[in-house]
Amino acid sequence: MRRCRTTDKTHDDASIGIFDSGYGGLTVLKEIAFRLPQESTVFIGDSARCPYGPRDLDEVKRFTLQICSHLVSLGCKLIVIACNTATAAGLKAAQMAFDIPIVGVIEAGSRAAVHMTHTRRVGVIATEGTIKSNAYRDAIVNLDAGIEIHSKATPAFVEIAELGLKHENNTRRVNDRNICADTFGDDWEEYLRIANDYLVPLIDADIDTLVLGCTHFPIIEPLISEVLGESIHLVSSAEETARDVASILERRGALASGSSATSHRFFTTSNATDEFAEFGALVLGNEDIEVEHLDLPEYKG
Ligand code: DGL
Repeated sequence: MRRCRTTDKTHDDASIGIFDSGYGGLTVLKEIAFRLPQESTVFIGDSARCPYGPRDLDEVKRFTLQICSHLVSLGCKLIVIACNTATAAGLKAAQMAFDIPIVGVIEAGSRAAVHMTHTRRVGVIATEGTIKSNAYRDAIVNLDAGIEIHSKATPAFVEIAELGLKHENNTRRVNDRNICADTFGDDWEEYLRIANDYLVPLIDADIDTLVLGCTHFPIIEPLISEVLGESIHLVSSAEETARDVASILERRGALASGSSATSHRFFTTSNATDEFAEFGALVLGNEDIEVEHLDLPEYKG
């Protein structure tokens, strides 16, 4: 359903389109909704083809173009690629293909890390696809060529985040630090061992800032912090991306007028719409969300 679009020189009531391979992008949507409460949004979680991380980057680029095309057809005024892997694989192609602003999450996360580090030793954890693309390295070096970067692919963290959300002990909201020892019960020790294997080399490299280069990772921040302690700052691109979105819309005179009702629509490409609604609500901290199924027939992956 296309929203009735109010555009004048100073406002545009069309929705912001946001997508990810799954639940992770909801961490970005949450920040956007917090910063821009008057904006309507359309979210697509491509759960049927999740995870993107181990896939070939060309394939992820095709998924990205396909989903952007769908969001454009729904009348979105701006698209946020709330997935680092899709940003690395498809942001440039999408920006060239469509005539609305398209924003990724890698530049925002890189900027936040560059601003935050004192020692100029920065770690990046992300999916295999994102690390292989070198997109974070390039973005950070573009901002400060003197920064030493230590990158690590941490693919199991995507699975742990999804398992944590779905774990039967998990009855609280992500902001209540729910993905923690209590949530995982007996599995906690195993996940802590995996986190140690991934993160201890970064501690040994003496980083003072770690970029959570996957939008799933804020969901398991307590697990990551348990290993890193308090002396390493964690950077998630969600907040910085929301700032970018606000600034782009403001400069273009395209913020919502606030005069029409705000709507948040959710789609998943999987058939499990109830499951997406249940666990999506945990990430968002909402009581209820309604989720519709979206069929994307051309590229089944
Ligand atoms: N949320 C995706 C990202 O930020 C990762 C999940 C996946 O592998 O699909 O890269």
